Amino acid sequence: MIQREHWGSRLGFILAAAGSAVGLGNIWKFPYMAGSNGGGAFLLIYLALVFTIGLSVMLAEMVIGRLSEKNAIGAFKKLKGGAWPLVGLCGVGAAFTILSFYSVVAGWTIAYMVKAVTGGLSSSDPAVLGAAFDGFIAGNISPLVYHAIFMALTVFVVLSGIGSGIERASKILMPALFVLLLILIGRAVTLPGAGKGLAFLLQPDFSKVTWNTVSDALSQAFFSLSLGMGAMITYGSYLSKKENIAGAAGWVVLLDTAVAVLAGLLILPAVFAFGFDPGAGPGLTFITLPAVFAQMPFGEFFAFLFFLLLAIAALTSSVSILEVVVAYFVDDRGLSRKVASIIMGLIIFVLGIPSSLSNGIMKDTTFFGMTFFNLMDFVSAKLLLPIGGLFISLFVGWVIWGAAREDLASHNGKVPAWINIWGILVKFIAPAAIAFILISGLIS
Ligand code: PFF
Repeated sequence: MIQREHWGSRLGFILAAAGSAVGLGNIWKFPYMAGSNGGGAFLLIYLALVFTIGLSVMLAEMVIGRLSEKNAIGAFKKLKGGAWPLVGLCGVGAAFTILSFYSVVAGWTIAYMVKAVTGGLSSSDPAVLGAAFDGFIAGNISPLVYHAIFMALTVFVVLSGIGSGIERASKILMPALFVLLLILIGRAVTLPGAGKGLAFLLQPDFSKVTWNTVSDALSQAFFSLSLGMGAMITYGSYLSKKENIAGAAGWVVLLDTAVAVLAGLLILPAVFAFGFDPGAGPGLTFITLPAVFAQMPFGEFFAFLFFLLLAIAALTSSVSILEVVVAYFVDDRGLSRKVASIIMGLIIFVLGIPSSLSNGIMKDTTFFGMTFFNLMDFVSAKLLLPIGGLFISLFVGWVIWGAAREDLASHNGKVPAWINIWGILVKFIAPAAIAFILISGLIS
């Protein structure tokens, strides 16, 4: 049997896992989710969920991956069998669903990179920027071309294998993105009127919180941390036995959350300074940021750099999504990495077409009252990921608990005390809370 490929170093793994987590979820989705859910209260609920349920499920996925050295479905088969591989199967389904619309939005970032250099973003008038964005995403051809370019890039990286492709890209990107965010925040918070945006994000108003707010925060936590569909199982499967995965899980959660909060501190002050609507939805980042750039010296340069980094951040995430699918077809179905990457990439591209068109000619074609784009988002982020997380917790807490404990014990066999707290979280608290939030969110 061929030796399974491993990450080059501990830092390489942390950066690749953080690369998976940090992406459009943080910079595109988080600000508009917070914006349409009241700001500060959403942020607090989000943080509470991330550091309890999110962190526990992150560690659970990494442990499943390392113990089994298998893909999302194969891992459950190897460790227990029975009906458990269905959890992985749901994950693979979620990967198809998420990547199909994720790639469409990532295509928008590439298009905005091009617009930045060709002078298409020079206005700071909300009406002009909003109309330009709506006009662009409603197109029949151009957004699809960018969607195709992004999918091709994703396929190319996955094809190249985990070490050379995924690990190398993440090492350069993460620090660069961080620095650029800090520079941009410096500009955004000093705009006249930005203070209202800071207050909106930092002073919680619980009067508007409903169960739907909590369920949005939960689904955002899973989406942003790349949890519930086996991405971290798959990445964990390439980990060597020596690594301290609890530390790695902590770092990934911390970095991901830091980037989301930074994105909030960038976008929301700008939203208020320019008089945009914080509840504007998925266009928020794309409409607000060009207005910030237009107010900066070398604005076009910063705009280009920002959308470039966002596109790369999206790429290190999309790669982890496609890897969930490809690892399964390579491990368990005997396809070569090359064939699996290309075929699955093509299928996902096709599935993304109606998502893209639902911003234009398919606007009025709705399913349960949602456009195709919103349906894909709803099914994956609000249903599949939390349900996946629920069963992953139960699996680690009740089915492989002994092995998981042992895996996390240090070399001298000592089990750290926090493992018992994690045990309570994965056995009881996470599954119960997820189930409760899911059901209440659906009812409300
Ligand atoms: N976490 C990614 C983001 O925030 O953009 C998206 C994502 C990646 C979701 C991998 C799920 C996943 F398994």
